[in-house]
Amino acid sequence: MTGTETLFTNISQLVTPGVGMQRGAAMRDLNVISDAAMLVRDGVIRWVGPRAGAPGNVPEHDLGGVAVMPGLIDPHTHAVWAGDRLADFEARISGVPYEEILARGGGIRSSMRATGAAGVEELVALARPRLEALRTSGATTVEVKSGYGLDFDAELRMLRAVRALQAEFQLVPTLLIHVPPTGGRAEYVQAVCYDLIPGVAREHLAAAVDVFTEREAFTVQESRAILQVARTHGLQTKLHADQFHAIGGTELGCELGALSVDHLEASDPSQIAALAASNTVATILPGVTLHLGLPAAPGRALIDAGAAVAVGTDLNPGSSPVFSTQLALALAVRLCRLTPSEALTACTVNAAAALGLSDRGALAPGQRADFLALHSADWRDLPYTLGASPVRQVWVGGNHV
Ligand code: NIG
Ligand code: FE
Repeated sequence: MTGTETLFTNISQLVTPGVGMQRGAAMRDLNVISDAAMLVRDGVIRWVGPRAGAPGNVPEHDLGGVAVMPGLIDPHTHAVWAGDRLADFEARISGVPYEEILARGGGIRSSMRATGAAGVEELVALARPRLEALRTSGATTVEVKSGYGLDFDAELRMLRAVRALQAEFQLVPTLLIHVPPTGGRAEYVQAVCYDLIPGVAREHLAAAVDVFTEREAFTVQESRAILQVARTHGLQTKLHADQFHAIGGTELGCELGALSVDHLEASDPSQIAALAASNTVATILPGVTLHLGLPAAPGRALIDAGAAVAVGTDLNPGSSPVFSTQLALALAVRLCRLTPSEALTACTVNAAAALGLSDRGALAPGQRADFLALHSADWRDLPYTLGASPVRQVWVGGNHV
């Protein structure tokens, strides 16, 4: 509704966290306004409050007596890929570990072979329905990583596919340095630092650089070199850290002031303490726990220690074929022991903070008018529902999509 003013009315509950990153107990402080209204002008929220106090003389849109909350923000996906991992899935179900499949040249490396062979248009066509599914589930902003490029040209094709899809979705692109080549890894890291990252920065193809810091991927020393170069090019930093082994990725992220460290399934009290003492968001990915049958990230302990926790789908073909951001929220409650209030904060303002964004994630004056209308009058149907969508309408910048 750009250029116009609308008063959204007949909102049973308007539910929102506070503006900006929320840590520890503050993640539970939701503002719930009964019988609410919300004024939107030019795609931005101008006023929220009880219906009785709403400004007059504004065209109204009746939302039907349901609960309204901020659009979800999915801060971690690998939504661009070609090929499939169905054979891996069967192998894993019969007992072959994810890391062993990767070490044998399958897993992520098989997605790299298929993705490396695909052109930009094919990647766009493959990613579009995945992003539509995330949006239907309530995600109004989605981060998308590269990382399945066999070579730098393939990495750039992935990022160009994300750029093309930005015409249709609110996307935040990340350059992911995912797994090293089997030979010549020192040369590869040098080329990432002095060729790939400068080129990506020059073309503004990514907002951040992410490194998979893990035994089967990059060492802490290699990750540090890559992320330091990213910063000198004005790019934000992130890590896939502590997924299988806590080898120091979380500590590195906190030291470098990374926007987020993601996964954390293998984090112990010292990594939790480091995150609680930092401004780095702890992004947890419960879909991986469900799909790989591995331990859950310590969401409860992170919040109790005072960290800022975000939740994402990690949508990818190997470790998390979760095409619903609402499901990731609902799983964080079951598997990582977040309260429903904490899970909403994790999927809105904290997920925005994990992307370096502060203009979205809350329903408050000055924030983008990205919001959801549920089928239900009670907002708790959002964290409660499994296997069907509790989201009736998705509004982006004040427009129904
Ligand atoms: O976030 N762990 C590394 N990367 C992805 C998995 C990618 C894949 O399996 O294709 C993750 O889990
Ligand atoms: Fe991931």
